[in-house]
Amino acid sequence: MTGMIDWTTDYDIFSKEYIENPFPIWDDLREGCPIAHSDRWGGSWLPTTYEDVTNIARDPERFSSREIIVVPPAEAPGSGAYGPTPGAPISVDNPMHSWTRRQILPAFAPRAVDELEVFTRAWCRELMDVLASKDEADIAVEYAQQIPAQVIANMLGVPTNMKDTFTKWVRNSLEQGLTDPELRIKTRAELQDFFMDEIRKRRATGSTDDLIGELVHAEHDGEPFPDGLILGMCGLLLIAGVDTTWSGIGASLWHLATHKEDRDRLVQEPELIPSAVEEFLRAYSPVTMARIVAEDTEVNGCPMHAGDRVLMAFPAANRDPKQFDRPDEVIIDREHNRHVAFGAGIHRCAGSNLARMEMRVAIEEFLARVPDFELRDDAEVTWAGGQVRGPRTIPVRFNKKIGH
Ligand code: HEM
Repeated sequence: MTGMIDWTTDYDIFSKEYIENPFPIWDDLREGCPIAHSDRWGGSWLPTTYEDVTNIARDPERFSSREIIVVPPAEAPGSGAYGPTPGAPISVDNPMHSWTRRQILPAFAPRAVDELEVFTRAWCRELMDVLASKDEADIAVEYAQQIPAQVIANMLGVPTNMKDTFTKWVRNSLEQGLTDPELRIKTRAELQDFFMDEIRKRRATGSTDDLIGELVHAEHDGEPFPDGLILGMCGLLLIAGVDTTWSGIGASLWHLATHKEDRDRLVQEPELIPSAVEEFLRAYSPVTMARIVAEDTEVNGCPMHAGDRVLMAFPAANRDPKQFDRPDEVIIDREHNRHVAFGAGIHRCAGSNLARMEMRVAIEEFLARVPDFELRDDAEVTWAGGQVRGPRTIPVRFNKKIGH
């Protein structure tokens, strides 16, 4: 086993080792103890094979989504200022899951995403104008982090100058907030006050021009969606859409900064960028979600009890050698790549078209202006992990720039 921790019985998803390099840990577990357990952080199970993870994801009756955070809730459900604010569709089961998901899907359909591509590309170019005027930059902070919050603000119809506040809220919910419940509660209150104001504005003007407006005017069984539900859905869209995609863009650029042959190949053959995006998603999958066991059950011989938490290690499943040939190699033109970075089953990511577009456009625009770059110093790179894994600092030196 790796390091001092016995990963089979005492894994710690917030340890530095797990955040920085979880791959050998998952490989060991998959071989020796494919479903590990730990009492840390409220206790949980950690399945690591593709088969177990996808089977659980496709069994929402036995594995509930009522708590999808990898640690226990910070407070009792419904105890915030606005009562119950379910983050539907991700943190509700059926029947509510299906009608709340149906409501948001059109906003993420291919045609809607094509329209957003124009905005996203223009924004990436604006960011690259600033970056390419320099010789060095932190491309996690100055580029990757700047893209998804701007795009989601545009979709929701809130001022894009809120993007830094959004980023702070997301980090305080899903990064620092996971191990600091007080911060999580405080952040949720700020976020909900903001969205409640936005909801009131849409009610006053009758506007349906944006996603919040659509939710305000949505109906189920002839009744408008309650405020708490709209609040929960807005919060989810913000949180689900920001540091997931920012981590995906960051990990892709980190890979390109450290692998000259892949960088050169994508510059020469930009038509490979979509398949490279799939491979980056597989190899550096950012997202782990949780499930709650609904009734006593068994998975692959492992007994689980009602109320137990199960971590959906989609990133570990994506490195399973039974499913992927040479899983630890990043092969940017990999042919068979049925990765589960976006999950599987009824909760499969609703924003996957948008996420893929943002990653593709971000890489295209970056390489078009900076075709050659490298890490300034490996030791300066930092990663966040736990629920969403991705680089948070990537200082690089630009070796070649175009257009300046
Ligand atoms: C690279 C970026 C992204 C990754 C890796 C990712 C990953 C995931 C995963 C693994 C799930 C399934 C969760 C589960 O099974 O419990 C999920 C669900 C979801 N994602 Fe994403 N996501 C990304 C970007 C986005 C974006 C940009 C949005 C939209 C703003 C979004 C919205 C959602 C929603 C609404 C759900 C819940 C779907 C449901 O429960 O039916 N995601 N995502």
